[in-house]
Amino acid sequence: MTKKAKKASIGKIQLRDDGIYLIKTNKTKTRIADPILVTAFATSDPGTPREQAFTVIKFMNRRSKWKKEIVSSSMLITHCTEFTTLLSKRGYVWPSNRDLRAKIIVALSVEKPNRDIRVTDVPGWHGKSFVLPGEAYTPDGPDRNAIQINYNSTVKLGAFRRSGTLDQWKKHVAKTCAHSSRARLAVAAVFAAPNLRPLKVNTFGFNFSGPTSGGKTLLLRLAASGAGLNSDEGPETWDGSAPGFEQRALGHRDCMMPLDDLSHLAGDATHVAQLAKLVTFRLSSNRPKTKAGQYVQAHNLVDTDWRVIPLSTSEDPLWDQVSLHGHGKRRVRGEEVRMINVRACISNVGDIFDGRKASEHVGKTLDERLRFVEKQEVLAVQYQGEAYRAYLTKRTADKTAIATLDKYIAEYIEAASLPEQFRWLGRIRKYFAVVYASAALAIDYRILPWDKKSTLKAIAACMTDAMEQLTENTGGAPDASTKEIKSNAVLLAEFKQRVDDATFVRLSQNRTNSRLVAKRLKKANGIIRPTSWGKAQCLLFSKTLDGWFPAMTERKHLTKMLRSRRIIGKGRRPDTSTRQVFIAEAGKKVPCFALSRKRLAVASPPAIAAA
Ligand SMILES: Nc1ncnc2c1ncn2[C@@H]1O[C@H](COP(=O)(O)OP(=O)(O)O)[C@@H](O)[C@H]1O
Ligand SMILES: [Mg+2]
Repeated sequence: MTKKAKKASIGKIQLRDDGIYLIKTNKTKTRIADPILVTAFATSDPGTPREQAFTVIKFMNRRSKWKKEIVSSSMLITHCTEFTTLLSKRGYVWPSNRDLRAKIIVALSVEKPNRDIRVTDVPGWHGKSFVLPGEAYTPDGPDRNAIQINYNSTVKLGAFRRSGTLDQWKKHVAKTCAHSSRARLAVAAVFAAPNLRPLKVNTFGFNFSGPTSGGKTLLLRLAASGAGLNSDEGPETWDGSAPGFEQRALGHRDCMMPLDDLSHLAGDATHVAQLAKLVTFRLSSNRPKTKAGQYVQAHNLVDTDWRVIPLSTSEDPLWDQVSLHGHGKRRVRGEEVRMINVRACISNVGDIFDGRKASEHVGKTLDERLRFVEKQEVLAVQYQGEAYRAYLTKRTADKTAIATLDKYIAEYIEAASLPEQFRWLGRIRKYFAVVYASAALAIDYRILPWDKKSTLKAIAACMTDAMEQLTENTGGAPDASTKEIKSNAVLLAEFKQRVDDATFVRLSQNRTNSRLVAKRLKKANGIIRPTSWGKAQCLLFSKTLDGWFPAMTERKHLTKMLRSRRIIGKGRRPDTSTRQVFIAEAGKKVPCFALSRKRLAVASPPAIAAA
């Protein structure tokens, strides 16, 4: 820096909306650059350890257009060159004098704007608001400023486009979906995704399988048009790597996530199926693969969880390749209940349109149907995104939404009864119930122009098909009369479900009201009691397990497996897993298993995968 340049920068910086000025000591005022203004302070994850400060700035580019940028506030203090580069890249022209540039950044760093906003790296729920690119849906209505998404290179943000109006979408896209049970399921899944988190339901998805040109991709296009996720090329595909899918899950947090055409994955059929399985498990783990905290910080990784509903398509039923391994009959595996295969082409002409009036509205000849499909493909791009946003507007303002959803879930479960012996299908039914309930809510909100009764029937038809494939392949053996020993995976899944539904009585240190407790104990399956080292111990009654698994060989097999996974603790003697526990409230010793529900909860996915 020459002396002359240094001298040129002496003075005070003034930030104004018509430019940046340098005021010299002799009061002369020179315009030295186009305007940059600090418009707001922003905070991410307020009140958590991840809280970070951001500064919202507005600047005029070389074409005299105002641009906005949300930058980490530390950029203005310690990463000034990064800041200069960022703005240059976006078309801002800096003064050539380095001292002047530094002075401007200092001036920006001490600005105190009046406005405060929140920022985040990911869409989806943030408290009671739901954030999408460009707009957040708050209990008080849509808001473009309340919470905004800032750019993060480790999040592959869904586009969430907006095109056309809600009425156009209803008329040209949603109405025609009523002619296909599969289309109803796919579109309903879009409205179900935001409900998973508040309903405490984990990530699950659907795969539509069927021969080529049967309209599978159309199903995804229709769903994607609800959410605004159709580019001109259509919905996003299976093209990618396992970490890439995690970035996509973050970018579609609490939303539907399209995964078209499994054949985008390279490799032979078995390899593809293995990869699909890996992705399914990664997605259903609800968060990025665990990394060390320091690594997360250093690489500015997004460390948050997601719920998504992936919608996928493939020619062959998704899990045939994985499941055909092993001997004898197939067993139901973890991936099969997480990414549920539904056959897509089930109408009498082998396409997706199985509605009662399909031939009348979609067409009778192949040619008519083909033209209908091609028209729908265009309409799904033309009208998209508004339905989802209208739904979120109503959903976030609706204080009784969860109660309504629960009511519709119960209604579905009541209507779609399961054969008693197939208890493990209950989980799959719950997923379909959540999808139905969300569609029913969207019908109430006047977003989906369908009626509830036929929607329930359509979704139940998809479920029956999915379940038939599973029970067919497992040999259709009802749980209670299975003679052979079931696989570890099925046993574990059954056990887990039983424990989930079981009643445990919590005992407290001070044994008041013991008569009441004794009464409850009679009906209970176990107890939870405080231990002397300040933790809670869960004990499952031995006689409960006898009832759940009456066949002794099976029960022995199960306890051995649970013991080896340390889900149940050691018994008093080496040849048994039970221990005699004195329960004062019951007035006697009771044989129990010491159960680790924590280990049980985490054991099941990898255990099922590995079994
Ligand atoms: N029901 C149908 N009847 C006739 N042609 C169809 C039908 N569904 C799809 N097609 C034809 O196949 C093309 C591809 O459709 P697509 O939904 O991508 O099928 P898939 O993904 O099952 O291979 C469509 O553009 C259309 O020409
Ligand atoms: Mg396709």
